[in-house]
Amino acid sequence: AVNWPWKPCSKQITALARLPLGIALSLPAMVVILALRDNAPPGRARHSGEALVKSEFSLVNHLGRRVTHKDFAGKWQLVFFGFTYCPDVCPTTLASMGQVIDSLGDAADKVVPLFITVDPQRDTSKALAEYVTAIHPNIIALTGTPEEIKAAAQSFRIYYAKVDKEDAPAGYLMNHSGFIYLMTPKGGYEAVFTEKSDPPAKIAAAIKQRL
Ligand code: NI
Repeated sequence: AVNWPWKPCSKQITALARLPLGIALSLPAMVVILALRDNAPPGRARHSGEALVKSEFSLVNHLGRRVTHKDFAGKWQLVFFGFTYCPDVCPTTLASMGQVIDSLGDAADKVVPLFITVDPQRDTSKALAEYVTAIHPNIIALTGTPEEIKAAAQSFRIYYAKVDKEDAPAGYLMNHSGFIYLMTPKGGYEAVFTEKSDPPAKIAAAIKQRL
């Protein structure tokens, strides 16, 4: 789906690329993120938005195993919400996350890249496995019941919504926030990036600085 502040970045599915940008705009999520950015000077400063975003979930990974945030305690998390049928933002963002992990070298084992679907109806563990293993072997994709996905999205303050679209696969798309969160080894908020404004090298440098 097309997500503020991005323009469609793929013309592969031209019908989808014509989606109006405005419908993807999530005012509540945007306000949270702008607050985070505005109040987040570089370094170790605490900021007001930090308490709003936390990593708490109970989901099923792409290998079909139940996992919670506690399974990732002690690791930094790089977290992105999306869906496998996304024509533009998700594939480019996940590719970028893969490049970030590669840029970390030996430190890559301290960072877990998580991809949480907002489309559990289609994104089963099996569908996610086929999708993410083709992008990067380290990415862990997570799905769950609609209620579990909703709870995870609320924990990260992620917006998503199903949008009917006649010529899309199965007749719908998912609009969703396009933020990449860096979460601390304790599951708290550390930083937020977007694929559009933060190239992989920049995200990797920001992570290395904190390891
Ligand atoms: Ni997407």
